[in-house]
Amino acid sequence: MIRTINLAFSYIEFENHDELDSQDRDLIMAARETAVNAYAPYSKFRVGVAIRLKSGTIVRGANVENAAFPSGICAERSAISNSVSNHHDDNPVAMAIAAMTEDGLTEYPVPPCGNCRQVIAEEESRIGDKIKIILSGKNKTIIINSISGLLPLQFNNKNLKVNLP
Ligand code: THU
Repeated sequence: MIRTINLAFSYIEFENHDELDSQDRDLIMAARETAVNAYAPYSKFRVGVAIRLKSGTIVRGANVENAAFPSGICAERSAISNSVSNHHDDNPVAMAIAAMTEDGLTEYPVPPCGNCRQVIAEEESRIGDKIKIILSGKNKTIIINSISGLLPLQFNNKNLKVNLP
């Protein structure tokens, strides 16, 4: 039997910053500030990520490039590494992503790359909860309630039959 499976994916779009929850607005501001700290001499594309933890602590990460291109790291993975390393038991609740070109903040939201989607999925799996993803552009904000929307049919530890504690 052949079946077509349709996966539903919805997200919320905001055109006006004032309509956002104040905590989400603060997280976007932190992501924008962090983008300024990126080390991106090659692409000139600076990305900043701010993660809000359950305690309210905000953890940041920026992209850090390298002359050996693949050795660079994206802002999302930089922020998750920071969060896991320094706040191991304080789980992420939300993550805001902002990006800048040489002309300033991007007009439209920039979604995470495939590699980072996989790492965000692992982090949801590690904490056993969803992480709200806030993609921020100058003129538009997109809110997605879990990485599952951006990464359906995930490869994860269940595929490896690994029983993590
Ligand atoms: N980049 C990120 O930091 N996050 C993404 O999700 C997409 C791309 C960085 C990697 C590289 O330093 C620059 O943006 C251009 O690809």
